[in-house]
Parts: sequence; C-alpha cells; structure tokens
Amino acid sequence: MISEAETSATTPLLRVKALKASYDESIILRGIDMAVRPNSVVALLGRNGVGKTSLLRSIMGLMPKTEGEITFEGKSIASLRSDQRARLGLGYVPQGRDIFPNLTVQENLEVSMSISGEAGRERLEEVYELFPVVKDMLTRKGGVLSGGQQQQLAIGRAILTNPKLLILDEPTEGIQPSIIDQIEDAIHLLKKQGNLSIILVEQYLDFAKSASDEFYILDRGSVVLTGESEELTSEVIGQHLTV
Ligand SMILES: Nc1ncnc2c1ncn2[C@@H]1O[C@H](COP(=O)(O)OP(=O)(O)O)[C@@H](O)[C@H]1O
Ligand SMILES: [Mg+2]
Repeated sequence: MISEAETSATTPLLRVKALKASYDESIILRGIDMAVRPNSVVALLGRNGVGKTSLLRSIMGLMPKTEGEITFEGKSIASLRSDQRARLGLGYVPQGRDIFPNLTVQENLEVSMSISGEAGRERLEEVYELFPVVKDMLTRKGGVLSGGQQQQLAIGRAILTNPKLLILDEPTEGIQPSIIDQIEDAIHLLKKQGNLSIILVEQYLDFAKSASDEFYILDRGSVVLTGESEELTSEVIGQHLTV
C-alpha cells in the first residue's frame, strides 16, 4: 500500500519529491514524496504538529527554507515566489481565516478577481450558489462575519482566482456544525465538477474519506502511509490518526 501515487501515465498536476523544510534549527519535513493527479482530491491527514500545514506552505512558497523538487504541470516551481505560484493556478486557503476584515465582502471578492481577470469573474455566480451567505453579506465588513461565514468567504475568494489546484487547510476547523455541512457540500460539489484538483487537510475523517480519491498520512514530517481513500479503514485510522 505504501506506493508511488503515480499509477497512470498522465503527468501529475502537482508533484513533490524529497521535500525537506525547516524553521531555523528545527527540521519539520524530512523528505516528502507526493503526487496530485489532475481532477482528483487528495486528503492530507495526520495528528497535530506532524507538518501538514508546513507541507502546504512549502507548496505555496511560504516556508523560510525548503529543499527538494516541486513541480506543477511538469515544470519546477521551487524557485518561484508565492504570488507567482498563485498566478500559475495554486489557490490556497490557509488554516484559520484568510480574509480582509476591514474590507467589505464585495471588496474581498474583488481583490481575488483582480488576480485572475475574466476567468475568475465568470465564477462569481458559482461562488454565490455554493455559499449564498456570501451574496447576502456583500456590503458587510469581512470582520463582522461569523467564523464559518469567513471561511466560506475565504474559499469563495480562492475559487475566484480560478485555481487548477485548490489547497484547503482544515476548512471546517472551529466552525459550527450547520456551516460545516455547507462547506462539506461545497467541496463535494467542486469535486463533482471535476475541473480542478484539491488537497484537503481535514480532521473529520468520514468527510475526508468521502471527499477524497487518495490519502497521505504524515507523521513527524514524513509520509507514513498513502493509498486509495477507500482503503482508509478504522484500523488504519486507529493506528495512525487517533491520539
Ligand atoms: N513559525 C514556526 N516556527 C517554528 N516552528 C514552527 C512554526 N510553525 C510550526 N512549527 C512547528 O512545525 C511543526 C509542524 O507544524 P505544522 O506544519 O503546523 O503541523 P500540522 O499542520 O500538521 O499541525 C510543529 O512541531 C510546529 O510546532
Ligand atoms: Mg495545521
């Protein structure tokens, strides 16, 4: 089961090879190999502090020090700045809230659309359909929305950059149950549309399993297990993911 994810002949959308990353003296990622196929969802799992967020930050060019290979659509992106990676089609919703609290919801959306131009603007209706509350709140300041509403706005903003790869770091963390359902439904819908890939870090394992095609489990900065998501049994979960 611990195998290269590259089973088909197609080039992965994203490939990470022998990726190492550190903060100052502490080594956080110890040689990660990962592949994300086009139009697929990868669940990135692991207990707290194992390096999931650091891996996503490395992919986005936000870690202070990284080594190894990162390719996107077959080309190396390791030397690109994070804004350059975003323009290539990597959409990142960091853990916590990533919105401008002092801008209105509308202005928050405008900032994203200014990055992607027409292609992003064409997805505005889709964002309103996925998250009606975003449309209802257009004139409010981002900062007055509830945590769940801010998360919906953050995901909406990422969609408006028209990404090829959407990277979601614990999108349901700390959010009330009714809104968790809406966010889960939205991710299922995005998956069903099938025109982008998603990396999903998620603690709700039933949802992570149902939403993803493949999974990677990290422990202390290494991939300890990868496979098809249907192989995510309670045994696997018990061994690697429960505290
Ligand atoms: N800014 C930072 N400076 C130093 N160490 C950090 C920083 N951010 C995270 N770490 C450490 O890196 C390790 C991995 O953290 P993180 O990638 O956030 O894990 P996860 O997302 O899996 O919970 C942890 O030991 C954490 O304490
Ligand atoms: Mg994290």
